[in-house]
Amino acid sequence: MNEPIHNDVSSAMPTSLNHLKGQSHVKQQIAVALDSCQMDNLKFDHSLMVGGPGLGKTNFAKIISCEMASDYQEVLGQSITSFSDLNAVLLKATDKSIIFIDEAHELKKEFQTSLYLALDNRKIIVSGGNSPTTIPLADFTLLLASTDEHCLLPPLISRMCLLLRFNYYSEDELQIILKQRSIALGWDVDDFVFKIISERSRGTPRLALRLLQACRRVCRSLGETNITVEHLMKSCELEQIDNKGLGITEQQYLQIIADGMTRLNVIASKIGLPSQTVSKVIEPYLIRSGLIVKDDQGRRQLTEIGHLHVSYLCSTDV
Ligand SMILES: Nc1ncnc2c1ncn2[C@@H]1O[C@H](COP(=O)(O)OP(=O)(O)OP(=O)(O)O)[C@@H](O)[C@H]1O
Ligand SMILES: [Mg+2]
Repeated sequence: MNEPIHNDVSSAMPTSLNHLKGQSHVKQQIAVALDSCQMDNLKFDHSLMVGGPGLGKTNFAKIISCEMASDYQEVLGQSITSFSDLNAVLLKATDKSIIFIDEAHELKKEFQTSLYLALDNRKIIVSGGNSPTTIPLADFTLLLASTDEHCLLPPLISRMCLLLRFNYYSEDELQIILKQRSIALGWDVDDFVFKIISERSRGTPRLALRLLQACRRVCRSLGETNITVEHLMKSCELEQIDNKGLGITEQQYLQIIADGMTRLNVIASKIGLPSQTVSKVIEPYLIRSGLIVKDDQGRRQLTEIGHLHVSYLCSTDV
């Protein structure tokens, strides 16, 4: 019980597969792959992790690397802006490396092509001086993570032997994650807080942990040590998170539709965001949670639950 107390949720991330909760299918896929590597002394297969933001892709990648005792190299897709950037990453790798490319869909098509050719040929051709030079590559493992697999080239996807699909978490799973993290951080939290946070986190550990962090901030600002429902309610008020976990932009979105505006470009300009952000970031959860529907002509509409929620928001004057 004499665990050190940390102030930041990210300072106590799970470090082994057993500590990761939920995603049982992904965990099983990884466990089988790890066992088979160990049995035959092989490297981990090239893998693609697909799923929404904050569902654990990076955490799982780090754990695979730990379990394989690999050298872990993490790169963001958008940080590769030239062939020399890509070559530098590939040339740094050894046979014991795991190269983790996060946001892989941000890699330009020509780099994605180079990447799968590099996997096939285990060498790269570097032009410089008078003649191009061929340089052999190590037998590394490539892990790709993406929230948008449709932006990845099919030949690159097909070279990934393991496809790990991340789903949203149930409220029960989120409660377990929150409780486990609080214990690891040495934070005292009332059980009911976990339940309410899990209902307001859209099935996403990152959002749940962010809200837990906000509760801790309120709690400590008062000089207290035990996180209570009162701290949680104050945090939600400060963060403008409602009882369904919607932020202020989503609440605005629902209000705009309730006012009769149904076209994406009109809604986006009312909110003041690019249409793509509205359709890719804001709408998926509203559709998933049954608050809105879209028809074939792209018109948005509130569902009955959506109408009820807007009435609730108006009555609480959020
Ligand atoms: N299954 C899990 N068990 C425990 N904690 C988890 C789990 N999944 C995610 N987390 C925690 O949630 C937070 C977000 O996870 P992570 O950064 O790995 O998500 P991500 O999928 O990589 O997000 P992004 O797409 O934005 O890069 C981290 O603190 C991580 O430790
Ligand atoms: Mg990540």
